[in-house]
Amino acid sequence: MGLVDGKICLVTGGASNPGLGHAIAHKLANEGATVIVTDVDEKGAATTAAEIVSEGGKAEAWAQDVTDESAWNATLEQIRTRHDRLDALVNNAGIAVLKPLPDLSLSDYNRQMLVNMTSVFLGTQKAVAIMRDTGVRGSIVNMSSVAALVGVPACSAYAAAKGGVIGFTKTVAAETALDGIRCNTLHPGLIDTNMQRQSSIENPEEYVKLNAAVPMGFMGPPHTIADAALFLVSDLSSYMTGAQMVIDGGLINQ
Ligand SMILES: NC(=O)c1ccc[n+]([C@@H]2O[C@H](COP(=O)([O-])OP(=O)(O)OC[C@H]3O[C@@H](n4cnc5c(N)ncnc54)[C@H](O)[C@@H]3O)[C@@H](O)[C@H]2O)c1
Repeated sequence: MGLVDGKICLVTGGASNPGLGHAIAHKLANEGATVIVTDVDEKGAATTAAEIVSEGGKAEAWAQDVTDESAWNATLEQIRTRHDRLDALVNNAGIAVLKPLPDLSLSDYNRQMLVNMTSVFLGTQKAVAIMRDTGVRGSIVNMSSVAALVGVPACSAYAAAKGGVIGFTKTVAAETALDGIRCNTLHPGLIDTNMQRQSSIENPEEYVKLNAAVPMGFMGPPHTIADAALFLVSDLSSYMTGAQMVIDGGLINQ
């Protein structure tokens, strides 16, 4: 018996491999969930779902731009039609616009906020509506970052978005606690995904410094975040809401 047997779980940004959404989708499916994988990269999302199905799991995939409200409406409508419920939403899709403050344009900043923060508002609002409507005591997992908790050079816009996710999540948790809907944030440190590989190209010096600073001595593999997401989606965390879960190899331990 899996930890999330029978649950219907939506994971956004599940195309990138190696990526956190990809690892989370696999983990939830391995533990018995039906996983809906969405991404702007439709082909990548379909590949993730096909991998899961070929391993004997249950998965579906389609294209979704998380910044587009009508795409959220269509996604949740489709889930409702097919499954009549939603047990968990993992708001994972994100981008990292990493530039020192003087180089950051307003459009960089706005894009960063739209993809990493506004998307979380849209998805959470609509998932809560379905969960309430169908009486599901669901779980919402919002992807933040350690960059929202400590100052990291070149991360101001990214940290503003990820910090916004914390306050938003805590408020929603307070509003939905009596419905039995839980809403928590995940705070990965440095995890070996395509996003980190790209930032190593864009900011090589900062990247080397950050890696050297991980007390456990290595960059985290994606499954470490997937394990934490599984915990938050499953009933193992049934008394946990409005919390911040840090998984970072000790990076911000101080
Ligand atoms: N990797 C890390 O070290 C790390 C650390 C802290 C937080 N995070 C966060 O974890 C999440 C996943 O990061 P990752 O490292 O797997 O990144 P990644 O770049 O490997 O994957 C991100 C995925 O999101 C998708 N995406 C981007 N914009 C989208 C949009 N508008 N609509 C739908 N999908 C979109 C991409 O296509 C991609 O598949 C992000 O929110 C990121 O900020 C990552």
